[in-house]
Amino acid sequence: MKEYYEQNNLPAPHLPACPIDRKLARQKALVTGANSGIGEAVAIALAKAGADVCINYVSRPEVADAVAQKAAECGTKVITAQADVSQEDQVQAMFKKAIDAFGTLDIVVPNAGVQIDHPIDEMTVEHWDKLMGINLRGQFLCCREAIKEFKRRGVVPSVSCSAGKIICMSSVHDIIPWAGHVNYASSKGGISMMMKSIAQEVAPFRIRCNAICPGAIRTPINHEAWSTREAYDALMKLVPYKRIGEPEDIGRAAVWLASDESDYVTGTNLYVDGGMTLYPGFETGG
Ligand code: NAI
Ligand code: BGC
Repeated sequence: MKEYYEQNNLPAPHLPACPIDRKLARQKALVTGANSGIGEAVAIALAKAGADVCINYVSRPEVADAVAQKAAECGTKVITAQADVSQEDQVQAMFKKAIDAFGTLDIVVPNAGVQIDHPIDEMTVEHWDKLMGINLRGQFLCCREAIKEFKRRGVVPSVSCSAGKIICMSSVHDIIPWAGHVNYASSKGGISMMMKSIAQEVAPFRIRCNAICPGAIRTPINHEAWSTREAYDALMKLVPYKRIGEPEDIGRAAVWLASDESDYVTGTNLYVDGGMTLYPGFETGG
């Protein structure tokens, strides 16, 4: 991280040190798309907070193994599970693997997502369906399997006051329209309403369902938006807090949403975006 800021002559951000206070001890978590970017940071943050973690990946098993090793250094049990989240049978097999290994699951983070960007008049049905399959159906499948297990097991007071926590990875583009990215923004808007409807349905079972809506976070998905000084400066016009987000910013939010400290928070979109949703164009005008 330090090298990136030095190379681009940018002031390095002062990120809060993540206290290792094991607030998720005895909890079992599954994170999809956890061998890159935000998913990786969330998996490691959950492990640092004491949770056992299942690291899902679809490709590059060697990277998933490296993330698993890093997470295991926190002293918790870590496994990896290959699955394409758009495929029902693979998602079910992944949940079975995690539940067989850990005994149950308490925290599920459907995070895997892609961008397949095209102008609307060049966007094919394949572009639309492929993205929706991963970003929206994939999250639906993970939420459904999570809820089956949370309902089966119920509340275990020595572990958590909730029967289970789901944290969907959405985006600021659930509410910020995004030209050239119609399939992506539609999937994130869909996640928001899916998350709220699920939250309403399962709250009586003491299951909490929330979403994190990240702004611009420095990961491979948006490499073009931060990899040169020019791109970074253009991006900062959209970020009142004047720094790009780091995956660890999302990791800390996920730990809070997974912990009993956020008990009574359900059906909520948590924007972690340096103010990107604050209409930065109005900073000086209007
Ligand atoms: P990334 O490209 O680093 O990670 C995406 C992950 O999803 C990778 O591990 C990839 O292998 C996995 N994945 C893709 N297709 C899959 C499939 N079919 N099955 C299982 N896994 C699959 O990107 P990043 O930024 O870490 O994205 C993670 C999530 O965060 C996505 O849902 C993205 O939409 C969301 N997000 C990212 C933001 C950013 O600025 N980086 C901002 C807002 C939301
Ligand atoms: C997108 C990124 C983008 C960010 C802010 C995310 O949902 O995946 O590419 O930088 O939103 O616009």
